[in-house]
Amino acid sequence: MKKIIVNTSDATCPCSLAGITSEAVNALHTVDHATGAGNDFLGWVKLPSSITEAELADIQATADSLRRDCEVVVCIGIGGSYLGAKAVIEALDNTFRSHMPSAQGNPAVLFAGQNIGEDYLAELSDFLKDKKFGIIVISKSGTTTEPAIAFRILKEQLEKQAGKAAAQKLIVAITDEKRGALRTLANSEGYKTFVIPDNVGGRFSVLTPVGLLPIAVAGHDISALTAGAAEMEKACTAENAEENPCIAYAGARNLLYRQGKKIEILVNYNPKLHYFGEWWKQLYGESEGKDHKGIFPASVDFSTDLHSMGQWIQDGERTIFETVLSVEESARTMVIPTDGDNLDGLNYIAGKRVDEVNKMAELGARIAHVDGGVPNIRITIPALTERWIGQLIYFFEKACGISGYMLGVNPFDQPGVEAYKKNMFALLAKPGYEAETAQIRQRIK
Ligand code: PA5
Repeated sequence: MKKIIVNTSDATCPCSLAGITSEAVNALHTVDHATGAGNDFLGWVKLPSSITEAELADIQATADSLRRDCEVVVCIGIGGSYLGAKAVIEALDNTFRSHMPSAQGNPAVLFAGQNIGEDYLAELSDFLKDKKFGIIVISKSGTTTEPAIAFRILKEQLEKQAGKAAAQKLIVAITDEKRGALRTLANSEGYKTFVIPDNVGGRFSVLTPVGLLPIAVAGHDISALTAGAAEMEKACTAENAEENPCIAYAGARNLLYRQGKKIEILVNYNPKLHYFGEWWKQLYGESEGKDHKGIFPASVDFSTDLHSMGQWIQDGERTIFETVLSVEESARTMVIPTDGDNLDGLNYIAGKRVDEVNKMAELGARIAHVDGGVPNIRITIPALTERWIGQLIYFFEKACGISGYMLGVNPFDQPGVEAYKKNMFALLAKPGYEAETAQIRQRIK
């Protein structure tokens, strides 16, 4: 039977893993019995099995309406209100979709509010000028500056292009049930809304409407995605590393951290997984990087980055380990042709699939890096489909909760994120920040 497999045999010896497994099982109990710090943010644990047909149908109907009425749908959000949808859409989409002529019924899904780039917004606004577009605006707090700026600009543009009444039907807001500026605005404008549950933090929200609506708008099967996640939810209650891949992964990475491996590099060999790495970095970075502790999460795309970061990984400071995300089966088949002249000398691989060469690059790099002192955890996923991506998302979320408790932190808060916001508001002289404004002006004099 196909399944996601975590292989730690190139990371650490089984004897040392045995010791840490009981710690991982204890941390699993802490998550499952909600006895640890941040236990009011565990709503994600049972999301896959508790989402109802009616909820999925509502999300799908909203997606279908946007698909019918729009050539482009702009998803506005940042951090956990952006990365999950972006990661899943990139993993499942045709790579060149954004370059294909967009027809209604399969709108281009673009993102905004994930930066404050003036050029980015101006170019997006130009691009949207002659397009029928809609907006999904996502903010749990409803007060985040980056998406709020993008929404103000694009809402105004949509109202001018489509008319206020039509724009109201082309905007969907996903936010808190009661609180925040976005909730107030959505209620007053009469937008269709979805709620981000109170007990689900941003980086754990991809299996709520935050991720599911944009993914459905992109044309992917959200029922299969959540069904996959539900399969993994079930597997992730087992109290041993053989059945529960989270135990193996959380155990191995904590062991490596204690052995001085302070940086984990998530490696993929499929460019469709680039944004999965970005999502994973937020999940682990924001969950674990606190109290002056935490594995630094980095990511690379191989073999591309073997030609840029390969030297460092092979020969640089030995404080790293790799976690390789390996996709067993490509969706497509491409065979390297034979060439009569063989001027490029490639006939020795003629007749082989491109993926076979990719797999040899992967194996060759694994052996070289392990020999060079870089422990290797290997996570195998059967294919890039909704079901397996759903499983992978849930696996990483559950392992993250377990791993954070093993590290001794609250994996579900993010107090450090506020520091830059406070300074930015002070520098922008936001009302209510007068004391901070005076202080920071002294600081930068
Ligand atoms: O994981 C988190 O909590 C954060 O990354 C948030 O998702 C991010 O800051 C965006 O917040 P909000 O959805 O409130 O706009």
